[in-house]
Amino acid sequence: MKIAEGIFSVGSVDWDLREFHGYSTPYGTSYNSYLITGEKNILIDTVKPSCTQEFIQKIESILPVGKIDYVISNHAEMDHSGLINWILSRSNATLICSPKGKENLEKHFHAKYERITVVENGQTIKIGPYTYQFFHTPMVHWPDSMCVYLIEKKMLFSNDAFGQHFACSRYFVDEVGLEVILREAKKYYANIVNPYGNSVKKVLSALATLQIDMILPSHGMIWRDQHQIKTILDKYSAWASNQPGKKILIVYETMWGSTKKMAEVCYVEAIKKNIESEQFNLQVNDISDVVAEMPDTKMILLGSSILHGQILPKMAGLIAYLTGLKFANRRAWSFGSYGWAKASFNKFETDIKNAGFDMPYDGFYVQFVPDKSALESLKTQLNSRIFNA
Ligand code: FEO
Repeated sequence: MKIAEGIFSVGSVDWDLREFHGYSTPYGTSYNSYLITGEKNILIDTVKPSCTQEFIQKIESILPVGKIDYVISNHAEMDHSGLINWILSRSNATLICSPKGKENLEKHFHAKYERITVVENGQTIKIGPYTYQFFHTPMVHWPDSMCVYLIEKKMLFSNDAFGQHFACSRYFVDEVGLEVILREAKKYYANIVNPYGNSVKKVLSALATLQIDMILPSHGMIWRDQHQIKTILDKYSAWASNQPGKKILIVYETMWGSTKKMAEVCYVEAIKKNIESEQFNLQVNDISDVVAEMPDTKMILLGSSILHGQILPKMAGLIAYLTGLKFANRRAWSFGSYGWAKASFNKFETDIKNAGFDMPYDGFYVQFVPDKSALESLKTQLNSRIFNA
C-alpha cells in the first residue's frame, strides 16, 4: 500500500490474534513496517516471524529483498525485529539502531552485526534524498525504543508509541473513525505504556519542536489528519500525567454469587448518585479491559470471595497486573464474602495498597451470604463515606 510517493506500508495484519502477552486483542493487530524506495531503499522495522509470508510478498511486490540498503530497527521486541536477521542475510543492508537496540538485538539473536550504524539521540543521517532524524525514546516502552523523523516528509515513524492493537484492511485513522481508534489507543497506553509516564513526557517534549504531518506507528492505524494528530498527542500528555478521571470501576470475582450481589448494590448506588460507573465480572471480562478504563477512573471497588484462605485467582492476577502498571492518584475500596476466615481479606487490602491505591476506609466483608440488613449496611457505607471520598 502506497502511503506517500515512494513510501509503502509493507507490514502484516494479524487478524487472528486474540491475546498479546496477557492483553486481550479482540480486533487482532498489525505489525507495521514501512519501505522508503528510491536512490536508496530503507526498511523501517519488520514483523513478527509468524507473519513472514505476507511481509515478504508485500516487499517483493515493490522490489527484491536484496535491493534493501538499510534496515532501521526502532525496537528490539520480536513483533518488530523478528525478521531483521532474515532481511540482513538476504541483502547487503546496513542495520541502523540505538545503542541499546544493538545490545538487545545481539542478546535476542545471539549475533554480532558487521554492517551496523548505531545512532545517538537527535542524530541525523542523509540517505538518498531524505534526512532521517533519530529520537531515542527509552522506556516508551523498552530501553532500546526509538522513533525516526523523516524531515523532508514530516513523517514520524513512532514504533509502539501512538499505536493500537487493531487489525484492519484500511491504513489511516480517518478511514476508521477517531472514537474507535482512540478507544484502542487508550487501551494500548494503559496496558503497555502507563508505567513510563515520565519517559512519555520527555519524548513529547522532544517531539514538540517538530512539524508532524503523519504519525506512523508500528501497530494499527496511521495518524494523518492534523486535528487527530493533535488529539492523540494531547491524550498521551494527559495519560502521562497519571491523573484520575471521573469514573468508578466495580470489579469482582465471585464463587456463589454473594460478592456479585454486593457488586450490584455498589453499581446501583453509584448510578443513583449519577457517578459514571462500569461493572466488571472477572469470570467473563479480561483484566486488560479493566485496565483500559483506568485512565478515566478515580476509584476502583474490588470484590472477591475467599477460597483456601486467599482471594480468588483472577482477582489476585488483576492486583498483580495493576501493581506493575503503576497507576497513581486513585482510591480503592474492597468488599467480599468469606466462609470462616475474615482475616484472609487483610492481605487483599495490603496488596491493593501496595499496587499504589489510597485506601482511606476499611473494606466491607460478609460471612457466606449477605442478608437484607447487610446489603442496607453496604448501601449506607457507600453513600456516607465511599462515594464521598
Ligand atoms: Fe509492539 Fe514493544 O512491541
